[in-house]
Amino acid sequence: MTRLVKTVTEMEGRFEEKWVLVEDDGLVSWEAEAALRHVGHPTPRLTGPQRVSGAARYTVDVALPGMLHAAVLRSPVAHGRVTALQVAAAEAIAGVRAVLTPASELGFQQRSGPLHDEPLYAGAPLAVVAADTLAAAREACRALAPSIEPLPFTVDIETAWQEQRFDGDLHEEARGDVEAALAAAAVRVELVVSTPGQLQTPIEPHAAVAWWKPDELVCFIATQGMFDARAELAKRFDLPPERVRVITEYVGGGFGGKQNAGFEALIAAELSRRTGRPVRLVLDRHGEQLDGGCRPATRQTVRLGATADGMLTAIDAEALVEFGMSGWRAVTTPALTLYRCADVRGIEANLRLELRRGNAFRAPAVMEGITALEQAIDELAIETGLDPLELRRRNFADRDQSADLPYTSNSLLWCYDRAAELAGWPDRDRWREPQADGLLRGMGCAAQIWWGGGGPPSHASCRLGGDGVAQVVVGVQDIGTGTLTAARMVAAEELGLPLDRVTVRGGDTAPAIYGPVAGGSQTTPSVMPAVRGAAAAVRRKLLALAGDVFEAEPDDLVVDDGRIRSRDGGLDEPYTAVTAKLGQASIDGSGNRGPNPDGYRANTFGCQIARVAVDPGTGSVRVEGIWAAHDIGRVINPLGASSQVEGGILQGMAYALSEQRVIDRTTGVPVNATMDDYKVPTMMDTPPIVVAFAPLPDTLLNTVGAKGLGEPPIIPTAAAIANAFRHATGRRAAALPLTRARVLEAIA
Ligand code: MOS
Repeated sequence: MTRLVKTVTEMEGRFEEKWVLVEDDGLVSWEAEAALRHVGHPTPRLTGPQRVSGAARYTVDVALPGMLHAAVLRSPVAHGRVTALQVAAAEAIAGVRAVLTPASELGFQQRSGPLHDEPLYAGAPLAVVAADTLAAAREACRALAPSIEPLPFTVDIETAWQEQRFDGDLHEEARGDVEAALAAAAVRVELVVSTPGQLQTPIEPHAAVAWWKPDELVCFIATQGMFDARAELAKRFDLPPERVRVITEYVGGGFGGKQNAGFEALIAAELSRRTGRPVRLVLDRHGEQLDGGCRPATRQTVRLGATADGMLTAIDAEALVEFGMSGWRAVTTPALTLYRCADVRGIEANLRLELRRGNAFRAPAVMEGITALEQAIDELAIETGLDPLELRRRNFADRDQSADLPYTSNSLLWCYDRAAELAGWPDRDRWREPQADGLLRGMGCAAQIWWGGGGPPSHASCRLGGDGVAQVVVGVQDIGTGTLTAARMVAAEELGLPLDRVTVRGGDTAPAIYGPVAGGSQTTPSVMPAVRGAAAAVRRKLLALAGDVFEAEPDDLVVDDGRIRSRDGGLDEPYTAVTAKLGQASIDGSGNRGPNPDGYRANTFGCQIARVAVDPGTGSVRVEGIWAAHDIGRVINPLGASSQVEGGILQGMAYALSEQRVIDRTTGVPVNATMDDYKVPTMMDTPPIVVAFAPLPDTLLNTVGAKGLGEPPIIPTAAAIANAFRHATGRRAAALPLTRARVLEAIA
């Protein structure tokens, strides 16, 4: 039955009530005890061979006949007015086909920009050139030789705060009376923590190849959301959506920074519209690090009040955010939800600076907030003399206190216990004993909360051919997380087919099968139920046909391991005994994600423990191990999921130890916008990582029982490392990352 129902959907903490199409697929969630053949078993990546052999075509690899190359001229100053551009000189360079400046009449609509005559940050695009070769396009950019009148700028939080340069209103959320509760508390701690600006630094930079054909705009885009990109291109260029096709076969990392069509696709499409040629626009590394996006720096103050035995009575979190995402505040959200507490307040101010505005970066805002909150909780453990994990257990919140709703599932207590067991937490103090190598060692922990329940709309189709092979189509691109592999496993499970008899296609809007943006940890819990629904529709039709062929009751038949069997064991035939009769016809099914359950919040939880070794002579900090336990409901592919956790932990570790956008305060220009100077971790920095998942599927949430995992693993890592540093050295650094200079200062 097809209905339109109202449901609440969520993306990175933004809730929306909307109408969604629902077709009841009659499926109930697989139970915890369900005997599954594929789902839950470690499975190598469907696209692994293509990726490692170089056959995978990323957007940067796309080359079309007659394709032009675009280059971008960027602002060298933080704030200024462009008084002249030498357009004629640029156009005179051999091979130049188009020059776009702020004065150009563009074929698409945008409120401001995308090209600026008054740049508001270093790296802001001023002009773009398309030419026969990249070298000619770059030479023409140099020939534009902009004359720029510098204007005043502010690039640090302190000054912006003093000048009250807010972007939007102060955001405050509170319950109870936090000041009174703090005044009455037996134990109080206050902590001020600064967190760094962090750049997404995808290995594949932002990239697009656009081809404005007479009847269709085709765009290859390195995007996390091909349908959002299609909608944006259609809207801005005023085209019907079905005349825009977005193709995203492989993506070399997005981490939140590659949503929608992006500057690159809009500009490439405009250049193609003007020139009649395909146009390739790939950010160079400097452009990527200047303008690909960032997690904004923060300065946060957390004040906690508690009873002598560690029951939280007050949580007050304040955050100053360096020009974060417009209209979205979540740095202090964890302070309102992670622990049970009646008197709580979160206040955050977004400060307007002459810096590239922050955008989504894996667990945007929440990671920043947890990094401060969880260090304050650690201080409270020290102050009350309690084991930090015991303190957290005592303050466990079994429902969402902001929304006053229960969770669909919550295994946070399991995560505390499991991480402790894996890490050898009860013996952690022995690491503080003098060590033969002279290093100071310690262990710290931190908890994680995030959304990630996913929701509708999300669609899938499944088609079973005469050869007994099923083809699944999903409306998402695999951004490196293993989405297509998980879809293959879910379809094979439902169809009773071996994995190699199921193929999965994604990464193209042409089939018009919609999927959501790969963001907010929503892909798996949104897409996999749709895949299961599509496969179930095919299975039912197949069994109906089998009933005709074998003169049996379809209800008496089951599928397993590529065979059709009767429950009484009398019939046991291969799939192909039925499908071969189809000839070139096929059995088709479609599926979609059902609505979210009313009256619940869906969240993910976790706990990580870190062990560090600090060299008191050099100030170097080495992470010697991370133990991670996460609650993501049912784990579809344990191999892919562990890999996700490892990636998140490495990014979180780098946030604690080495990554930071460094701005020259005298010029306002980022000085480390290269991969030489911007320190992402390498294999040599990678510690042993042990991963465990809570064994409880979220059967209330959807028909596969899965929650999301994209964001959770990055969230607690930096706090766990900072707490381990505190345990090792007895000191807490006021700011991350823990560079050698900061470490030596902290332990002096
Ligand atoms: Mo969002 S940071 O794109 O998951």
